[in-house]
Amino acid sequence: MNNPTSKYEKMNFRFCGTSGLQLPAISFGLWHNFGSVDLYENSRKMILYAFERGITHFDLANNYGPEPGSAEETFGRILHKDLAGYRDQMIISTKAGYYMWPGPYGDGGSRKYLLASLDQSLQRMNLDYVDIYYHHRPDPDTPIEESMLALDHAVRQGKALYVGISSYNSEQTREAMRIMRELRTPCIIHQVKYNMFDRDIERDLLDTLKEFGLGCIVFSPLAQGLLTDKYLNDIPADSRAAKPNGFLSKDAITDQRRAQIKKLNEIAQSRNQSLAQLAVAWVLRQETVTSALIGASSIEQIDDNLKVLENSELSTEELKQINDVLQ
Ligand SMILES: NC(=O)c1ccc[n+]([C@@H]2O[C@H](COP(=O)([O-])OP(=O)(O)OC[C@H]3O[C@@H](n4cnc5c(N)ncnc54)[C@H](OP(=O)(O)O)[C@@H]3O)[C@@H](O)[C@H]2O)c1
Repeated sequence: MNNPTSKYEKMNFRFCGTSGLQLPAISFGLWHNFGSVDLYENSRKMILYAFERGITHFDLANNYGPEPGSAEETFGRILHKDLAGYRDQMIISTKAGYYMWPGPYGDGGSRKYLLASLDQSLQRMNLDYVDIYYHHRPDPDTPIEESMLALDHAVRQGKALYVGISSYNSEQTREAMRIMRELRTPCIIHQVKYNMFDRDIERDLLDTLKEFGLGCIVFSPLAQGLLTDKYLNDIPADSRAAKPNGFLSKDAITDQRRAQIKKLNEIAQSRNQSLAQLAVAWVLRQETVTSALIGASSIEQIDDNLKVLENSELSTEELKQINDVLQ
């Protein structure tokens, strides 16, 4: 790695809640563009570029691909081939909670599923442990206590250093944290969707996270690419909305949405930054937010998004302008 010291000076690291773990203000997720259907060389370039620029945190899940599982395999391959010797400078997370394999033990939140899936993830990445293991989503059919005890077991087995929850609402978070505190399990982080178009967590979850000293890593801060200049005029052929495997539907890009995106883009331009940078600055303005978890399909996008670190303060007037557009 070139210039190993300065990359850490340039990145802004924030403590994850009241824990001692620091995460980069920008983390990198492998939901899209790291599957067996994607170009390995592009995936490799992005991981190496992100790490070289101080992005120390890489986020995965058992089902990322497609094929499900293949993003973990791609990441493991890159890690061992190109980044051998850097494991202790990285925070690697994975999750289980969505459908992964047939039958009643490959989905949900049971102890059986969570612990078997972690073993499979470790095998795919060829790792002894992950830094953070998440329950990917709440499971109404499994007692929260069972899922939390499974996460606790993963820590006690030495297969996860920390654990977290994802997409739990405020009430579910309270119940989970009550159990984790009793067990003294290092449950330190909540992963949740947050961007200008999806502000649900402002209602009560952010307050709950603060109350429990939980860190918050927000996914889809760019609304899967809507909050960039990509869809200003059309739907590019190589975009997530145009791809068969993407999770962004073309129907999400309505005329009203596009009009908002154009206005937000003007606000970004008035700050001499891209809309993507403005969108990341906007989520990072929340003191409870530890990290913005971005995705990308090229190193140019990672580079663009990282420039937010040079201009991330938003004035009261700018926040008002943004709110007016979002009304
Ligand atoms: N816990 C959960 O349930 C959950 C759910 C979803 C995601 N996640 C995590 O969060 C991560 C990020 O989610 P996300 O990929 O939806 O995040 P995002 O940052 O909102 O969207 C990423 C997409 O935006 C486009 N993009 C990024 N930077 C750009 C730029 N500067 N200019 C133009 N376009 C740009 C790219 O789309 P194109 O591909 O079109 O170029 C990229 O793939 C995932 O990888 C995953 O780790 C977790």
